Amino acid sequence: MGLQFEDTKLGFLAEVLRRRVEGGGGNPDAYLSSLEASRSNQELGALAHDLTVGETYFFRHMDQFRAFAEVALPERLSKRRNQKTAGVEPTLQILSAGCASGEEAYSLAILVREASVDLPGGVSIRGVDVNPLTLKKAIQGRFSNWALRETPPEVQRKWFRQDGRDAVLNDTARSGVRFEERNLLDDDDELWPPGAYDIIFCRNVIMYFTPDSAHALIARITRALAPGGYLFLGHAETLRGLSQDFHLRHTHETFYYQRKNAVSVPTTARPNTPFPGTVSARPAAVEVDGSWVDAIHKAAERIRSLATPTVESTPVVSVPPRDMRLALDLMQRERFSEALDVLRDLPPELAGDPDVLLLHAVLLVHSGQLSSAEETCRQLLALDDLNAGAHYVLALCMEGVGDRGRAAEHDEIAVYLDPGFAMPHLHLGLIARRVGDREIARRELEQAISLLEREDAARLLLFGGGFQRESLIALCRAELSACGEQ
Ligand SMILES: C[S@@+](CC[C@H](N)C(=O)[O-])C[C@H]1O[C@@H](n2cnc3c(N)ncnc32)[C@H](O)[C@@H]1O
Repeated sequence: MGLQFEDTKLGFLAEVLRRRVEGGGGNPDAYLSSLEASRSNQELGALAHDLTVGETYFFRHMDQFRAFAEVALPERLSKRRNQKTAGVEPTLQILSAGCASGEEAYSLAILVREASVDLPGGVSIRGVDVNPLTLKKAIQGRFSNWALRETPPEVQRKWFRQDGRDAVLNDTARSGVRFEERNLLDDDDELWPPGAYDIIFCRNVIMYFTPDSAHALIARITRALAPGGYLFLGHAETLRGLSQDFHLRHTHETFYYQRKNAVSVPTTARPNTPFPGTVSARPAAVEVDGSWVDAIHKAAERIRSLATPTVESTPVVSVPPRDMRLALDLMQRERFSEALDVLRDLPPELAGDPDVLLLHAVLLVHSGQLSSAEETCRQLLALDDLNAGAHYVLALCMEGVGDRGRAAEHDEIAVYLDPGFAMPHLHLGLIARRVGDREIARRELEQAISLLEREDAARLLLFGGGFQRESLIALCRAELSACGEQ
């Protein structure tokens, strides 16, 4: 199923497995063989019920549903309307992957009905999950009022009727969705036809997966989405480190993704599970026992090894470590213009290397060349939409020209892309304090302190503006006490 269990959850896993093995005759080897013999047997469903988290409710994260209704749906409808396929009526295809008891798929169905879609083939919504018991509940269409806690009263009145303590969804919305028991990690040509889906919701699923499983699932989703199709992940999930085949979209105060036209994942090949040579979604922390230049260099190497070359990106070239180290060394000694000269003297084919661009942008900010720094960040984002560092540097540029609103927006994107990145939290805290929003200032500064304590040392050296970890923490504390916090 692709699930990951932290060490603290291993006792729970052992207990579930012990119970299931005992119920199946008590022989662990026989139990394992029977599980392996058939990938879709009842026992797997029972295990899924015990091991997965099925928490969900209608209109969970309403901002994403607004982006769905106002951006993704109309755009994909107009694409499908203009599609000319002889003899086949265009249909809009939506997938709710990991749909649990159906609230997400039904929320989409309600919005599609509200939009009075005019498309000859209509809209097909498919909900799939590995847990047969939650699917049974989905098919019944009967929910507790707790599941409607985020549903506006007028939507409740229009689409539900009360039956005792339950709210029953009306048939028009129910008939728009079909549910199926599927394991998202199975090779399944019927579930993942190339380019078939317009919009995929796969929220709060990969957060429970191992990095390899998350990578394999995102590769399947990439293949199965039409070019320009949309992907919605959960609030705590990002594609950073998992894919470079999507543009990040940020509207309605939420984030989602749009598939690029050309992608690195072949759209015809059959997926393998798991993908060979996949990388961990979260880069390991860099150990800094030598000089800071070595640490930064190791980080740059790591970033390069994580980057999957895409059809659209420039070929990966290796920057001579000596030049990179020299530029970094000069930056640490605040000799910014000499450091910039080193980067400018690099051969032209290296100028587009993402690491060089990022370092270049940081140096330009330090030397006050904000518009050039902004341009360099944009160049980097054209190669890698999901580069949190580039968004942070853009935030510094925006603040430098007095645009605090856009500065905060870029900090928020950086935080979304990399929740462990301390500096954008610190920056958001400072901006909030300047504009007198103490509550946000406190929240962001506290978050910055807790992240700074374990922030990647190399990243601190690159983005810390020359300050040591302790000095940055002291700055946060001083700002916090200025907000009235002890
Ligand atoms: C937390 S729920 C998310 C429900 C809904 N998407 C939402 O965000 O409200 C996660 C669901 O993913 C399902 N799931 C986990 N691993 C799966 C797999 N390998 N294949 C299919 N579904 C899976 C679980 O059974 C569970 O119902």
